[in-house]
Amino acid sequence: SGYQVGYFVGSLSSASINRVLSRALIRLAPEDLQFTEIGIRDLPLYSPDFDDHFPPEATALKEAIARADAVLFVTPEYNRSIPGALKNAIDWASRPWGQNSFHHIPAGVIGASVGPIGTAVAQQSLRAVLSFCNARQMTAPEAYIYFSHSVFADNGEVTNEETATFLRNYMTEFRDYVERVLTVLPRARD
Ligand code: FNR
Repeated sequence: SGYQVGYFVGSLSSASINRVLSRALIRLAPEDLQFTEIGIRDLPLYSPDFDDHFPPEATALKEAIARADAVLFVTPEYNRSIPGALKNAIDWASRPWGQNSFHHIPAGVIGASVGPIGTAVAQQSLRAVLSFCNARQMTAPEAYIYFSHSVFADNGEVTNEETATFLRNYMTEFRDYVERVLTVLPRARD
């Protein structure tokens, strides 16, 4: 038993607060979730010219999603949307036509910002994209994280108990959501 969660960190920053948030989520998640990061950094910019012959980075991306029971997006907000690197990865995974990797996949969305809106606008933008990609999104609870280094240590330790409880609950809800979706829509894994 247990579920494989492939997670995306939407930031390429070496000091990414969303990477720190991903570490916190992994620490606080239920024991039966296993996490593997799905990297987006090395993907070229998508073009339909690649549809007949995907480069190895893009094939690896699609294989990683195929191996996952569910995906979790941990993303910053860039100019009230998601970073281009993350959108590029989603575009790759959605193609070639008829081989959309996100079809029916259970998906969670969360993000951290240095501003009080906590990536709320980026998450709405991402949810619109994932809707079109036919992912099964957990829509509640929502999680808009206002990031402070006094709450999150770099290793993902959460020193504020209220925040830790909130994030632990988010991951428990995500686990239960994944289980419910997979009961109805089992993933064909290769
Ligand atoms: C930002 N930031 C930002 N924050 C926000 O709350 N709303 C926004 O629209 C934006 N826009 C934005 C655009 C660009 C190009 C950058 C570089 C930054 C600030 C952002 O929250 C902050 O840089 C975070 O640290 C980004 O997350 P990572 O990369 O540290 O995970």
